Amino acid sequence: MNSLKDRDFLTLRDFSREELQYLIDLSIRLKKEKKDGVYRERLKRMNAALIFEKPSTRTRCSFTVACADEGAHPEYLNRGDIQLGGKESVADTARVLSRMFDIIEFRGFAHRTIEELAEYSSVPVINGLTDDEHPIQILADFMTIQERFGRLLGLKLVYAGDGRNNMANSLMLGCAKMGMDYVCAAPPELSPDSALTAECVKYAGESGGSVRVERFPREAVKGADVVYTDVWASMGEEAKAAERLTLLSPYQVNADLMRLAGEAAVFLHCLPAVKGKEVTEEVFEAPYSLVFDEAENRVHTAKAVMVALKGKDL
Ligand code: CP
Ligand code: NVA
Repeated sequence: MNSLKDRDFLTLRDFSREELQYLIDLSIRLKKEKKDGVYRERLKRMNAALIFEKPSTRTRCSFTVACADEGAHPEYLNRGDIQLGGKESVADTARVLSRMFDIIEFRGFAHRTIEELAEYSSVPVINGLTDDEHPIQILADFMTIQERFGRLLGLKLVYAGDGRNNMANSLMLGCAKMGMDYVCAAPPELSPDSALTAECVKYAGESGGSVRVERFPREAVKGADVVYTDVWASMGEEAKAAERLTLLSPYQVNADLMRLAGEAAVFLHCLPAVKGKEVTEEVFEAPYSLVFDEAENRVHTAKAVMVALKGKDL
């Protein structure tokens, strides 16, 4: 898709419903190619810088495998490996790396850092998670939903837990853009930011979706097609673990809660999961839990985003 070439992938708010649908469909196409043993090396001789201020299993590994599959070289740069934001400014690092690399993936703390990287980089920058957003995870989530239900439009997704973390923010944006019904079940202390909610309500008005914040999880989950949760304390918030346990225990996704969801409902979690906290072992291991499809799909979506931003989605 021409409109995606040379863009950054920082937040879902920058993309239209058609563009996001295109990336999901492309991910499905690339997954099939890989299953069929077809390797087209669309990123041959390219180099990708993978910068990580925070730890990662899925994001690091999916980008590494996606690069290898498409013929690119991935270079993993940990917080301790480079001078980003310390001895060397973000702007200088961006200008240096984009003279050497064809694409930059960044996982870190402040969302402003990735915005600055993108501002000064002459090559596409992809968000691999910030404190505010995790947009590439949403593509894998929606791809998994589409594989199961054949569509996104009109499906009800209920997120239970910390309603203002990166996953909740990006899920709300994604559902609103794609014409889905998003319900966030969270206590008032952890409800989504009101400006972001208003923005998502506007997107939902355009797409035919809806956005709702609900205090009571048993009420929220009624008729859900997808029940989603995430850790109660995100990376960087470890000191809040005890407080979150008190606030979020009523929002645990357990078999009792799942029984109130729609008959064909599925369970999703971006992982890593803390079993016994936000989700029980029983739900995590249930046949309706698609968490490992979702994790695998991170490879195909990382690939789709890289090839589309490089204009190699042929
Ligand atoms: N879901 C996800 O982004 O996992 P990692 O933190 O392991 O990358
Ligand atoms: N909210 C979680 C997501 C991990 C993929 C975190 O930021 O730690």
